[in-house]
Parts: sequence; C-alpha cells; structure tokens
Amino acid sequence: MLDPSKNELLTQVGRDTPMGELLRRYWMPIAAVSEFDSESVRPVRLLGEDLTLYKDMNGTFGLVDRHCPHRSADMSYGFVEQCGLRCNYHGWLFDQEGRCIEQPYEDVAHPEAHFRDKIRIKAYPVQAHAGLLWAYLGSQPAPLVPNWEPFTWKNGFVQIVFADVPCNWLQCQENSVDPLHFEWMHMNWSVRLKDQGGAYSPRHLKLAFEEFDYGIVYRRIREGMSEEDPLWKVGRVCLWPNALFTGDHFEWRVPIDDRNTLSVTWCFTRVPKEREPYAQEKIPGWRGPVLDAETGRWISSHVMNQDFIAWIGQGAIADRTREHLGTSDAGIIMLRQIFLRDIEAIAHGEDPKATIRDAQLNRCVSLPIADRKRLVEGMTREEMSRHPLAAGQLADYIFQAGQPREVREAYAAAMGLSK
Ligand code: FES
Ligand SMILES: [Fe+2]
Repeated sequence: MLDPSKNELLTQVGRDTPMGELLRRYWMPIAAVSEFDSESVRPVRLLGEDLTLYKDMNGTFGLVDRHCPHRSADMSYGFVEQCGLRCNYHGWLFDQEGRCIEQPYEDVAHPEAHFRDKIRIKAYPVQAHAGLLWAYLGSQPAPLVPNWEPFTWKNGFVQIVFADVPCNWLQCQENSVDPLHFEWMHMNWSVRLKDQGGAYSPRHLKLAFEEFDYGIVYRRIREGMSEEDPLWKVGRVCLWPNALFTGDHFEWRVPIDDRNTLSVTWCFTRVPKEREPYAQEKIPGWRGPVLDAETGRWISSHVMNQDFIAWIGQGAIADRTREHLGTSDAGIIMLRQIFLRDIEAIAHGEDPKATIRDAQLNRCVSLPIADRKRLVEGMTREEMSRHPLAAGQLADYIFQAGQPREVREAYAAAMGLSK
C-alpha cells in the first residue's frame, strides 16, 4: 500500500514533476521508422506534451511543438520541405533543431529585421535505431540510445507493434516484474476463455527478484521445474525504466500522459536455419486495436491484450492506497523503491539508473536471456515446430490482436512458410 502522495509522485509524468523529470532522462520509442514510408507528419503526445513528429524530404526526422510559435496553428497539419517542417497557415519553416529558417512574408518585406532569427519552436532530438524512432525530452547532454543485444542480431524477422492503452504507464510497468500473473492471466484464463475446462497450469512455487544494472531480474520455479531451469538460473528482465524484456521481445510502456500509455513491442523471430542468411529489408510497424468494436469489451484473445485488460482494469491511475501486496509483489515494491531512490539521485545532480553514456559499452549491451542458445544459434524448421514457444509463434502472432495481412505474409515469407 502506498500513501496518496507517493502514488501521485510515482505516476505523474508532466514536465515539472519528479517522475516526469526522471522519465525524460531516457530515450522513448514512439514510432516505427517504416511508418514514415507512407506518411510524413503526425501528431504525437509524449509525457504530457503535445508534439509533431515528421520526416523531411532529406530523410531527417524532427520532433517539434504541436503549435506554431507564430499564432499557434497545428503543426501536425504542416508540410515537409527539403529541410524541415512548414506551418500550413502562413508558411513559417522550422528545422529539426527548432530554428525558424523561413518566414515567407517577413523575409521579403522586411529582410533587414531578421525577425526569424528571434523565433524558435520547441524541438527535441529524434534518433532512428532498430527500426524504431526514439525521442529524448530531457536535459542535455542526452545519454545514448541503448543498443540492446538483440538489436545487433541477424537472421531474424522483426516487427514493431503499437497499442494505445488508456491508463497510467506505471501500472503497466509493474506488470513487467509480476511473473505470477503469467500462470493465471495467460495460462489458466486463456484455457477458460476457450471454454476448455480442465487442469490448471503448473503453479508457481518460488519467486525471486534481484536488481542489476539495467533493471530487475525475476526468477520463477513452477511445479515440475528444477533450479537448473533457465527461468530460475537466468530469469527474465524488467528493463529500466519502462520495459519488459523476455529474450526476443521488448515491450515498452511509453507514457503519453498521466492517463494514457503507448504500448510498443519489438519482436524478433529468428528464421529457421534453412533460411539463413536472411536480411530483413523493412521492419514493419503496425497498431492493433484494444477494444472489440462489436461487443464493446476489451479484446482478450492475445497475450498482451490480456495484459491490457489487467492494466486498464486497475483504473486510469491505479489507486495504490487500496492495494494489499503479498510476497509475490516483492518485485513491485523493489521497482517503486528504485524509482524513489532515483528521484533523489536526480535531485542531487546524478544520472538515474541505466542511463548509458559509454559508446564502447553501447556497441552491444548484453542482457540476461533465458533462451539464449535457441536465439543465438537458431533452429531448423523441424526443431521450431517441436519447440513449445517457437511452434506457437510460427503458427500465428500470439502477442497482440490485429496483425495486418501484409505483415503476416512478410513473416511467412521470411520463415519459408509460404508455398
Ligand atoms: S501560425 Fe504558423 S505561420 Fe502563422
Ligand atoms: Fe502478461
């Protein structure tokens, strides 16, 4: 249970709040690079700020204020030029650093005034990496965009999946350090949803949580498992500050504002050995629905949709004054304590946890990976079809509802599944 002031402290993401400041010290994934093959400008809301993300004709990405500094027209209806984004109202043009580089009327009528030199639009850095666009809203100097080990892997098909989840990011992230829910929400509930009564899945017998450089490792023993199992020996990762990492799959919970979260998944599937060497031409990005329009209920058919139901169900901002934490929640307590500790660290001028500034280290940042052998060495298609996790992933995209047909087809072609 948390007192109300701590709940507020941990959940507010606005610019002038302590957690808002902490979260701004990290690069946030906000879109897929490939989405900008077919569009050039879109509105983005991030950490409570209304912004405009664009790709200009030179291929440079920019993230600027939603509103023009002239008379506040909506920059997400602006249009791109060779360099920068132009407001559609009176044509002021801004580059990715926020400089005003053209004021069509003033430049002609009163060039001597150099009015545009006095104007800037709010602008934040954007970087493309691993098929994602990353934004940084914090103080300079910015840390590096983490080059997590799976981003360096070859011979895989990657897809990036988004969902708008109408609740605060922290309750989503608490799910990243909650191994027990897997048994109930994903295993037992899925069986019941399919109307197949019968045995429950193996119970969790033992959990352990441990802080490391880039987050918290969680370990589990379920009925029938030994302490030699990689899920106990290696574990899985609650990745700092707002992600889950399972080995071939990242899920970021990106705060849109205090009451909304952008779920961003980066999912790597190693192609069968027969298909190697394989180089993916384009990493697709797609957005799945959360609500079933026919029934008006949340979609429950896929793993992450089930998670969304848990998160949304906790309320727009979970009221942690009403909770009753058990021993299975030790990781959640640890997560909150680390954030509170880092709020203090930032107040003392220090970097928060897991900000990476060493370029040498960032050539490839290793993480604990329970399935390392399978992912690094690969499997034949035969082996994949017999593997409990890989077989399901060959058959369908199990994590989120709404995969577009063209992504499924590209995936099937990569895996050699098409005729
Ligand atoms: S409001 Fe943007 S140029 Fe006038
Ligand atoms: Fe889950």
